[in-house]
Amino acid sequence: MTLRALVFDAYGTLYDVQSVLAKAEALCPGKGEVITQIWRLKQLEYTWLRSLMLEYEDFWEVTGAALDFALRAAGVEPTDAIREPLMDNYLHLDPYPEAQAALAALAAHKLAILSNGSPRMLEELLRNSRLDRWIETAISVDGARAYKPHPSCYALVEPALGVQKEEVLFVSSNSFDAVGAKAFGFEVAWIRRGSGDALATMFGMVRGRAEELGHAPDHTISALTDLPKLLP
Ligand code: LAC
Repeated sequence: MTLRALVFDAYGTLYDVQSVLAKAEALCPGKGEVITQIWRLKQLEYTWLRSLMLEYEDFWEVTGAALDFALRAAGVEPTDAIREPLMDNYLHLDPYPEAQAALAALAAHKLAILSNGSPRMLEELLRNSRLDRWIETAISVDGARAYKPHPSCYALVEPALGVQKEEVLFVSSNSFDAVGAKAFGFEVAWIRRGSGDALATMFGMVRGRAEELGHAPDHTISALTDLPKLLP
């Protein structure tokens, strides 16, 4: 294949969604772990439900509704004092520790993001984390008014970057996203994050495994820094 672009998923792939844990624990002592894990599970579930219901709302709205669900599930009333700092934290997620170095090593290639995040969320996240030094284009599924893994989301990449799908290496740690991207026709690298203890928890078992949906990734790697060795 002639590789012309590397396209990354954002949440969970470049950015650690669990970096909201410290703030959640400070605001809701003893409940931070369960709130943040349910928050992420519901956030994704709501993207799929809204796509199926043809009731698209952008990822900021979906993320807020999922947070309200998670807080109430844990017996916490979602007041502004709790909700606002947690939502704000979503604009300041930590990139994975290897992200800067990995992107710098790939800088000779066209680097982009395709994410469920709304345009404003992606713009702020990239600026706040300074990954905007490496990522040339952030493509939001907002342009398709559907969420991954709907093929219309992956179809945004070709016109946005001026490349053919066969020329794209798509990188995601979210297995459902890797499956969707492979079904669409990209070459796919799945980052299998987490090991040991994390996989022994219920959340790890649900989120850390390959989906049983066919469309296996072309490559399974354990960190962003494994990418250069996949490239021609
Ligand atoms: C994203 C979700 C899948 O960034 O994490 O699109």
